[in-house]
Amino acid sequence: MRVCVIGTGYVGLVTGVCLAHIGHHVICVDNNEEKVKLMKSGQSPIFEPGLSEIMQSSSQSGQLEFTTDLGAGVAHGEILFIAVGTPPLPTGESDTRYVEAVARGIGEHLDGGGYKVIVNKSTVPIGSGDWVKMIVQSGIVNRQQALVGAGGGISSEKASDRVAGFDVVSNPEFLREGSAVYDTFNPDRIVLGGNNPKAIAMMKELYIPIIERSFAADPTLPAVPVLVTDLSSAEMIKYAANAFLATKISFINEVANICDRVGADVTEVAKGIGLDSRIGNKFLQAGIGWGGSCFPKDVSALVHTADDYGYEAQLLKAAISVNQRQRLILVEKLQQVLKILKGKTVGLLGLTFKPDTDDMRDAPALNLIEHLNRLGTTVKAYDPIVSQSGLRDGIAGVLVETDAERLADGCDALVLVTDWAQFRTLDYAKMASLMNNPVLIDGRNFLDREALIKAGFRYVGVGR
Ligand SMILES: NC(=O)c1ccc[n+]([C@@H]2O[C@H](COP(=O)([O-])OP(=O)(O)OC[C@H]3O[C@@H](n4cnc5c(N)ncnc54)[C@H](O)[C@@H]3O)[C@@H](O)[C@H]2O)c1
Repeated sequence: MRVCVIGTGYVGLVTGVCLAHIGHHVICVDNNEEKVKLMKSGQSPIFEPGLSEIMQSSSQSGQLEFTTDLGAGVAHGEILFIAVGTPPLPTGESDTRYVEAVARGIGEHLDGGGYKVIVNKSTVPIGSGDWVKMIVQSGIVNRQQALVGAGGGISSEKASDRVAGFDVVSNPEFLREGSAVYDTFNPDRIVLGGNNPKAIAMMKELYIPIIERSFAADPTLPAVPVLVTDLSSAEMIKYAANAFLATKISFINEVANICDRVGADVTEVAKGIGLDSRIGNKFLQAGIGWGGSCFPKDVSALVHTADDYGYEAQLLKAAISVNQRQRLILVEKLQQVLKILKGKTVGLLGLTFKPDTDDMRDAPALNLIEHLNRLGTTVKAYDPIVSQSGLRDGIAGVLVETDAERLADGCDALVLVTDWAQFRTLDYAKMASLMNNPVLIDGRNFLDREALIKAGFRYVGVGR
């Protein structure tokens, strides 16, 4: 099928590349010229395991193209994905101005070329499906008026004849940064919200190779469930899923804080409750709380939506407040061990909000750095991706080192912030020998406590 993906961030680029890989002809549109130039040269602007390889092969085979020209993308696609950002506003609600600009642009460029499906892939407030439809329509009207106004013998009837029909479908994205390509080929479900069976049928056709597991890690698994709903329910599913996962993490963090006080070990407690099939063992790792570009903004946006309807989302507000407190738990632990933090040097292992990504949006490390700086602490960090990328110089208040031993050198404590797999195999004995004071605060309960103690560290976990 002919596909256009507008917005080439973590979601749009992965979606475009994966759809091209399964055989569709995809044009990716972004208004960031630098990004488009980079992608045209075969390079990915983001780090995501496995992405560069299939991006290059699909570009070489001609299945995948990049442009800044929205009109060319709209003319090409029978399915048009909107995958631009919806960052949080200071009030907590989503900033939908990028979605609005794209919807208007699509309307202004819809000009024949047959029926099209416009897909909201961005996480958008409930009700956005109808809103996008209205904006596209207003874009069409603008264009018609321009055509009529420009004369050239085009009547308003003729101008409207040139515009084909369209429908809006909500197709929320559930990929995880760090395993986005894997998740796209191995989804737990595909959600399609819309009210025209024709549009839903086109979406199913688009996803057939994924639904039938033709590109899955295990092709023998049963077909991917496809849930067809109305627009609002599909939009709500995305928010509810993220709110549930964030709440589950806040729950285990609350349990960890109680464990710390009563002398229980939250890692054992999590195992014990996770074996209950009603609870499940995922998202029960206690630590420094949730961050990244999705959970914080989506939970806040849902609270805001509830507020708009006069409903106070108490549970979600509590999940947010537990998380805000949790982000500073490592500062408390450092104070317990080192007492005075002024004049001390603390080394952070990891900066990104999770491993296998270069995304620093709302990363807990940022709060930690800011707070430690305020207390007069010198902060250094080593992160497998950030230490190599251009971001190195872009984070205020922290000196980014190029390897873990340079990080340890002269530190009064190390703090594990991100659970990168490579942190399990560092030479901790050597690192301990380079430190002023071999203390390690494991903010993710990720490292082997006994091995760390053997390497000479005083080990402090969260809730254990
Ligand atoms: N990042 C994730 O893990 C994730 C997961 C699920 C859903 N989502 C949702 O998907 C959406 C996109 O998230 P993201 O992380 O990919 O965002 P991003 O910020 O990484 O990328 C957005 C892209 O859109 C481009 N853009 C902005 N305005 C544009 C315009 N008018 N025309 C063309 N391009 C434009 C930007 O240049 C950028 O490349 C958000 O709504 C987000 O909530 C994200």
